Amino acid sequence: MAKRTCDVVVIGGGPGGYVCAIRLGQLKQKVICVEKDEVGGVCLNWGCVPSKALISASHTYEKVKHQGANMGLMGGDALRVDVPKMQEWKEGIVKKHTGGVKGLFRGNGVELVVGEARVTGPRTIEVKTREGGTETIEATKAVVIATGSSTIEIPTFKFDGKQVIGAKEAVSLKEVPKRLLVIGGGVIGLELGMVYQKFGSELTVVEATPSLLPGIDPECTAVVEKKLLKLGAKVLKNAKAMGYERNADGSLAVKVDLGGGKHDTIVTDVVMVAVGMRPNGAGLGLEEIGVKVERGFVPTDPLGRTNVDGVYAIGDVSGHPMLAHKASKEGEVVAEIIAGHKAAKDWVAIPAAIFTDPEIAVAGLTEAQAKEKGYEVRVGKFPFAALARANAVGETEGFFKVVADKKTNELLGVHIVGAEASNLISEGALALEMHAFLEDIGLTIHPHPTLGEGFMESAMNGLGHAIHILNREPK
Ligand code: NAI
Repeated sequence: MAKRTCDVVVIGGGPGGYVCAIRLGQLKQKVICVEKDEVGGVCLNWGCVPSKALISASHTYEKVKHQGANMGLMGGDALRVDVPKMQEWKEGIVKKHTGGVKGLFRGNGVELVVGEARVTGPRTIEVKTREGGTETIEATKAVVIATGSSTIEIPTFKFDGKQVIGAKEAVSLKEVPKRLLVIGGGVIGLELGMVYQKFGSELTVVEATPSLLPGIDPECTAVVEKKLLKLGAKVLKNAKAMGYERNADGSLAVKVDLGGGKHDTIVTDVVMVAVGMRPNGAGLGLEEIGVKVERGFVPTDPLGRTNVDGVYAIGDVSGHPMLAHKASKEGEVVAEIIAGHKAAKDWVAIPAAIFTDPEIAVAGLTEAQAKEKGYEVRVGKFPFAALARANAVGETEGFFKVVADKKTNELLGVHIVGAEASNLISEGALALEMHAFLEDIGLTIHPHPTLGEGFMESAMNGLGHAIHILNREPK
């Protein structure tokens, strides 16, 4: 059996693991990254990145088709979707980025081993390589667990890869389904559901809780729900998909429990299950060497250390929120710690971006969370419709909302629903990290005409003097 040593071995090459490996390389550590599939993980290969490509295509399609004529761009009716071409374009984007990660590995001296790893000691792992061999790798300093999470399957909706699918298959469909039923009105369900809805699928969303996107400011969710309904979706809340039968014509009849003894049967061509992800902490040999694993999660301290010396965990497998950028930042922190520098998971807020139409992006506390924490809150809002730029780009739905401590005006949370919310939220995250006050945001000159002015105006509205809307007296 081949055996070799390095300073650090990182298991998993997703946005947690690959970032950690690159940073370790930059810090002159001899690092091996073990990945069983393709570098980039879920995010790059079939999650965040390919879905954003499809979302962008569907948004452009819908805009040209339905708004083009208003702008004097005629011919939208003739527009059609060439799905294989779109898939080819999407694959090109994925390949460019996975190739980019491999290039960064080479440039930073990170060695990539393709195979499945198992931990056999606090600093030793065994890898079943793709070529069928077995290798032992000994890391003199640390092992970093960055194994991510996997799609949750519902027993009554076992994936068949064609008609009952998860997000992985949903970003690679060969054609637009005539009818699509999505189980789970969370992030994936709504992002991908809206893609196919815009390309013409009749969409049904079945959500178990009373609200779509649980946990998000309900005022923001309402804007997206309104758009879903406007585009013709059927949204069933407090509803559970119980199972399905196959009709003679190949379609699926899905039985939905609407609560209170009521049922409905929805006929569909494809069911996409998007009810969350499960952390990949079990079955790696961790428990055998004494590492605590709880419901698949590998708990860590603020430095990313598990309960066993030399073993670290980052990303989805180390806990919520399961977001790529949180994984990457944890990867950087752990790399610094292993290399002997000072670092910690010490942030005020982890922003989240949801690529629905319109987009939602949030950072910090919601109004309800701030009140629960005992704050008296001051809220400022500003609509996209009052921004010249939003009108000029034909994206007037949504608003900015800031939540601040009423006593001091310190910013506590930012909630944006509207075009480019995902790009706009970084300023909100920075403001939270800098412990900014509403006055800081209001006094910062924002270029005109831009969507970012909405953040400044919402802060000023909180203070009672936004310029481009009528303000209520600040409460
Ligand atoms: P999610 O947790 O966002 O949503 C799952 C939804 O399914 C919830 O609304 C839940 O109430 C509902 N649900 C659960 N069981 C159900 C059932 N039996 N019937 C009907 N509804 C049911 O999970 P999702 O959308 O699968 O996403 C997985 C992960 O991926 C999330 O942790 C998310 O953070 C991450 N992600 C993030 C993205 C982003 O940041 N833009 C994009 C896509 C995924």
